Amino acid sequence: MTPKKNILAISGSTRRNSINESILKFIKEKYSAEVNVELFTGIDSLPHFNPDLDNEQAPASVKAFRQLVRKADGVIICTPEYVFSLPGSLKNALEWMVSTIIFAKKPTALIVASGMGEKAFESLQLIMRTLEANFTGDTALLISGARSRFDAAGMPKDEPTAQELDRAVSSLLKVIEKIK
Ligand SMILES: Cc1cc2nc3c(=O)[nH]c(=O)nc-3n(C[C@H](O)[C@H](O)[C@H](O)COP(=O)(O)O)c2cc1C
Repeated sequence: MTPKKNILAISGSTRRNSINESILKFIKEKYSAEVNVELFTGIDSLPHFNPDLDNEQAPASVKAFRQLVRKADGVIICTPEYVFSLPGSLKNALEWMVSTIIFAKKPTALIVASGMGEKAFESLQLIMRTLEANFTGDTALLISGARSRFDAAGMPKDEPTAQELDRAVSSLLKVIEKIK
C-alpha cells in the first residue's frame, strides 16, 4: 500500500471560530482515509515581509513555513475576503514565497469562503498564478454567502455546497495522485 499523501491546509483567517478554518477542519475529517491534512493556522506569526530580510538569514518562522509548503504534496488555501482583497496576513505569507520556487507546480486548491469574495478570489488566483502553483478551475472555488452555507463545524448545510466543495478537494487529490 502506498503511503498517504500530505496536504498543508492554510487558513487565511486568524479569527477564533473562523468559517474558513472550520471548512479546513471538515475537509481534514472527511478525507482522512485518503490523505493527511495538516492545518496551518500560523500566518499571523510571520513577520511583516521585508525584502531586506528575504535572504539566507530569513526569520525562523518564515523558514519553517516555507519548509511546510515545500514538503507538502499539495496545498489548500481557504480564506475570507477583507475589504475587497485578501486578508493582509495571508497576502504577507504569500509575499514571503515570491523569491522562492516553492509553490511552482505545487498542486493547490484555492477556496474563498466569504460574504461576497469575488475580488479576493480573483486576487488569490493572480497571486498563485504568479507563484506558478498548479491549480485549475476545478480546484478553485468561490463560496459567497459562506455564513449561511456552513454550520459551525464547517459542514456544508446544503447539497450544492457539499458537491462544490467535494469537486474542489477531489480534483486536488486527483492532481496529486497523477503527479506522484
Ligand atoms: C475588516 C473586515 C472586512 C471585510 N470585508 C469583506 C469584503 O470586502 N468582502 C466580503 O465578502 N466579506 C468581507 N468581510 C466579511 C468576512 O469575509 C466574513 O465575515 C467571513 O465570514 C470571515 O471569514 P472567517 O469566518 O473565516 O473569519 C469583512 C470582514 C472584516 C472583519
